[in-house]
Amino acid sequence: MRFTMTAALKPGMVLGRDIVSPLHSVILKQGAVLTNENILYLAQKGYLGAYVDNEDTKGIAPEEHISQSTLADGVKAVDNVDMKALMAAARQIVIDISNMKQLSIDLLDLRSYDEYTYRHSVNVAVYATAVAKYMGMTESELIQMAQAGICHDLGKTKIPYEIINKPGRLTDAEFQEVKNHPRYSYDILFANKDISSMVRQAVLCHHENVNGSGYPAGKEGNELTTMAKILHAVDIYDALISKRPYKEPYTPAEAFEYMIGGRGILFDVDVVDAMKAVIPAYPIATDVRLSTGEDAVVIGHTKEPLRPIVRVLGKNLDIDLTRNEYRSILITPISVLNAGRSGKVEKLNEDRSAVKERKTRIMLVDDSIISLRQTGAALENEDYELIVLQSGMAAINYIKAKGAVDLVIMDIEMPKMNGIATVAAFREMGYNDMPVIFLTSNAFKETVKRCIEVNAKDYIVKPVLPVYLRERVAIALDATLER
Ligand SMILES: [Fe+2]
Ligand SMILES: [Fe+2]
Repeated sequence: MRFTMTAALKPGMVLGRDIVSPLHSVILKQGAVLTNENILYLAQKGYLGAYVDNEDTKGIAPEEHISQSTLADGVKAVDNVDMKALMAAARQIVIDISNMKQLSIDLLDLRSYDEYTYRHSVNVAVYATAVAKYMGMTESELIQMAQAGICHDLGKTKIPYEIINKPGRLTDAEFQEVKNHPRYSYDILFANKDISSMVRQAVLCHHENVNGSGYPAGKEGNELTTMAKILHAVDIYDALISKRPYKEPYTPAEAFEYMIGGRGILFDVDVVDAMKAVIPAYPIATDVRLSTGEDAVVIGHTKEPLRPIVRVLGKNLDIDLTRNEYRSILITPISVLNAGRSGKVEKLNEDRSAVKERKTRIMLVDDSIISLRQTGAALENEDYELIVLQSGMAAINYIKAKGAVDLVIMDIEMPKMNGIATVAAFREMGYNDMPVIFLTSNAFKETVKRCIEVNAKDYIVKPVLPVYLRERVAIALDATLER
């Protein structure tokens, strides 16, 4: 079978796996022939896609990582905030993960839009347990990891539903309230004697970034436990691949790029490396398009996450992209990416631009034209107006003449006047709050310190990865997206 994005599903296709909604019923059975109505339903409910049977891909099937009964029990436990059932589900997840033939989470979780909250908690527990197992944790630690995963967002039940599911921007007060949820989760667990302090700590710290820019306490990597670091990284990963009220889902490959971009900045280096090994950028059975223009399906993994073994459709040819003769072939993200971006996202953008009278003005400053081109291409978006400049002096002159922009993206290493000095000059001119993201070739402590001294929002290490840049820019413009 192969995984096909909802927008690419066609009537007559045969379902290769059940589509289930654990709290409701089986939505569609394996073997069902898809109709127009089915496809419309899946699209409306925000399903990413479906596994369909296909001659070319007979025998290809991703391994199930958790059983349907574990999923159903976990989801019910989260929905009812039933501590005993949550603990049992955590244990069952560890058993299921331990029984996997290969520690690789290939099966895409097919869930509707309104199942997010409880499926998210179960998914996070599954990912966290798999990553922790890869990193060598003992069985008792794995159980604690799964407990932390399944309980991490329980505190959200204390926050009004309208705030949690609000599309678009939160007010400052709403965002402050959202930021309390790790503490609320911690408090709920505190009442339970069976839960270890390790679990509580991990839950409390699940929104902390390793560079100290997270919440609630702004702790840094050396103050965080491995469990907390795993929980944080897989939590973001699952949010990225999910459809949320304010965003469309990223594909696993895009989410993978985000994790790599944040490696050592937001996320612990060892945790990201473990995720690379356990959570595939290109899961088994997913559709890809090759740079040769051919369509293919992923059939196996290699040591290089971005170069799997693929079957070229219509040719009966399997190729290992790590082999020398195929080195020139790349996977183009287009087929997977665009197919998933259906009607909903346009509507979301419309809603947002309706409130906006003008485009968001972003100034890009970099002495390298190649670098400017890459950054500019990654930010191509009808909501953004890009002002592209090649030196610190040019940037200062622009601000002097035209006033502040909405966001500055500034290269640090530039001849004559470097990026830090340029931003320091902005601050002296009185533009204290103008948000700045630095681009740097290194993230040494000294560099980071200088970024903080001039009140930068963020810094990104080159080479710039498009998905990471886009997402960090969106967050710099609207911090409440990082919820
Ligand atoms: Fe959370
Ligand atoms: Fe979460």
